[in-house]
Amino acid sequence: MASLTVRKLDEALKASLRLRAAKAGRSVEDEVRMILREAAEPQAVKPPSGPARNQPHRARASSATDLPRVTLIIGGGIAAYKALDLIRRLKERDIHVRCVMTRAAQQFVTPLTAGALADERCYTDLFDAQSEFDAGHIRLARDTDLIIVAPATADLMAKMAQGHADDLATAILLATNRPVLVAPAMNPLMWANVATKRNVAQLAHDGVSFIGPNSGEMAEANEAGVGRMSEPTEIAVAAEAMLRPPQTGPLAGKKILITAGPTHEPIDPVRYIANRSSGKQGYAIAASAAEAGADVTLISGPVDLDDPTGVRVIRVESARDMLAQVEAALPIDIAIFAAAVADWRIANAGEQKIKKTASGMPPLQLVENPDILATISKHQQNRPQLVIGFAAETQNLIENATSKLKRKGCDWIVANDVSPASGVMGGDRNTVHILTRDNAEVAVDSWPVMTKEEVADALVAKIASTIGQQNS
Ligand code: CTP
Repeated sequence: MASLTVRKLDEALKASLRLRAAKAGRSVEDEVRMILREAAEPQAVKPPSGPARNQPHRARASSATDLPRVTLIIGGGIAAYKALDLIRRLKERDIHVRCVMTRAAQQFVTPLTAGALADERCYTDLFDAQSEFDAGHIRLARDTDLIIVAPATADLMAKMAQGHADDLATAILLATNRPVLVAPAMNPLMWANVATKRNVAQLAHDGVSFIGPNSGEMAEANEAGVGRMSEPTEIAVAAEAMLRPPQTGPLAGKKILITAGPTHEPIDPVRYIANRSSGKQGYAIAASAAEAGADVTLISGPVDLDDPTGVRVIRVESARDMLAQVEAALPIDIAIFAAAVADWRIANAGEQKIKKTASGMPPLQLVENPDILATISKHQQNRPQLVIGFAAETQNLIENATSKLKRKGCDWIVANDVSPASGVMGGDRNTVHILTRDNAEVAVDSWPVMTKEEVADALVAKIASTIGQQNS
């Protein structure tokens, strides 16, 4: 693959690129990538006409360019190794990370490692001939949504409080107009020192946010107290709260759990029983619920789909794993069981691959899996306010779905025809009937054929209006 160096382009072209990048609020590098992407795959950049809500799930997932961006400044302390884990924790939350290291940090971890984990080179020098940023530290300071300093040493905080700018890290911190989150890490006596307290108070007064330090064992032998850097997950959670402030929307403040996809029930370590569920409908519901402001947990069997934006995704294999994760997620307000859970599993799955023998096929004994929907619908302590099941049927749709609603004890059933002729399994469209309880009767609302995203949006709208009425 050829590489392209912006620095080597002629001045007029560079100037117009800078202008274009500045207008779009992107770095020159990102702008060049965008131009190349536009040329190579116009569909990926400019969605076809029509409302975005009608695009398939994959088109609605975030592209790399609209992910929130963090500049992680790694200071020179022993906790620098934890900053490497922080890169991973941020990335698994769909946050783009760009790293900057102080000179001292490079005594503890290498820019190469940080760059490899972040998928982008790590910046170290104030005067960097290789940098393709048009204004070096100014670009790095602004081309981000949040700056994290982790670990923040006593010395680095002192420089920040004083407004020093004698290296790349401090120059970025002085030049930025973005929020800054600091994770201090130092010896307890240094943390307790009045000079550090003064600097911390000054930085807090200047609008800098802090996470930690925690109390505990220090890296040095026999040293303990307050000064340990917060754990990478704690810092990532704090960063996420700053980047993605509390949701608004009709389901804001509601915790929704959704199951999706098939389950795989092992026969032995290499074989399993499965079904044809693609997970598309459940994933689309999770995306719609998150857009409506809900706090969404998606418990998914094995599928080939990207995580929906803003959704906590827990991947499982078997029905029993799925039930365990659903129970661990309680209490919740609304549960939607869209998964095609395998009804049976092998009674005693082999620990080794089952071999062919002269005596013929091994008998596979099946036992019934737990019914997750029924378990949660009948939960004694933590039954959600609204429990919705699906009924995938190949015949007698309404009749079978009605008996499922009664048998499983849920509030609604979304019934759909999954016979091969319907094309629902694995397809992008769905025709559903919503069965709800109407005193002792069951009411059926039949919706027209829609894309799975449209079904998801309509279902989420119905949930929001029902919950709103119940709570008013
Ligand atoms: N379901 C579940 N746990 C199971 C089986 C099903 O949570 N072990 C849920 C599904 O997620 C769906 C609903 O129950 O919301 C109905 O699933 P479906 O496969 O249509 O029905 P079954 O209960 O499996 O009954 P049958 O296969 O006999 O139609």
